[in-house]
Amino acid sequence: MPYIIRNLVVALFSSIFLMSFCYADIRLPTPQTSGGMSLFESLKNRGSTSGAGFPMGQVSDNELSTVLWAASGLNRGDKGWTVPMFKGKPPYVRIYVASEKGSYLYEWEGHYLKEINKKDIRANIGLQAFIKRAAYSLVFVAEESAFKDVKPEQINNFSYTAVGAMSQDIYLAAAALKLNARYIHSIKPAAIRQELQLSEGDKPLAMFIIGK
Ligand SMILES: Cc1cc2nc3c(=O)[nH]c(=O)nc-3n(C[C@H](O)[C@H](O)[C@H](O)COP(=O)(O)O)c2cc1C
Repeated sequence: MPYIIRNLVVALFSSIFLMSFCYADIRLPTPQTSGGMSLFESLKNRGSTSGAGFPMGQVSDNELSTVLWAASGLNRGDKGWTVPMFKGKPPYVRIYVASEKGSYLYEWEGHYLKEINKKDIRANIGLQAFIKRAAYSLVFVAEESAFKDVKPEQINNFSYTAVGAMSQDIYLAAAALKLNARYIHSIKPAAIRQELQLSEGDKPLAMFIIGK
């Protein structure tokens, strides 16, 4: 192999190797899908933890995995989700996860976290000071590219309908796991758009904080 080609091949493989260290996706543990608190007990316990008293404790990977699955995971083969979507489309509201270690996109297909950055953005994305204390902020973002055959005037309604369903699933999963949770509408869309490197048409809608 000529010297120059050998060097190019070495450089190519080195950059692929280095890139795999730059972005570290996180495989989530298998979510809990049986046992635990009954649905009716969860409904009885559902509630928002007050912002002022929101705890700073850690949430385990198992708990995060179960909450994300409840919010928009696959529950019936490869085309059925825990939440209803217009015409059975794949979830067009995506969940970004902001944590102390970095920001991630929840990929329901494969059930893993795709790394966006290694920054702790929690203090910069909500209008209330207590947000940064929660172990995780789950940010709901409507993905513009998923709405190609939806009338423009329906996009907002369909997006918030999805947020409502996802939020109630999060509340119930959090109650069952004895986690603290609160839905938050007062977000900073521009900061979120910038920190999460969203596409122009993607729309941050609201978020959820969870903690213990
Ligand atoms: C549409 C909506 C917007 C909300 N926005 C915020 C918010 O920006 N900040 C906040 O601290 N709580 C927010 N909440 C949480 C509510 O304040 C909370 O759900 C309400 O006090 C009722 O308490 P419960 O969930 O324990 O029943 C919001 C709830 C809803 C449904």
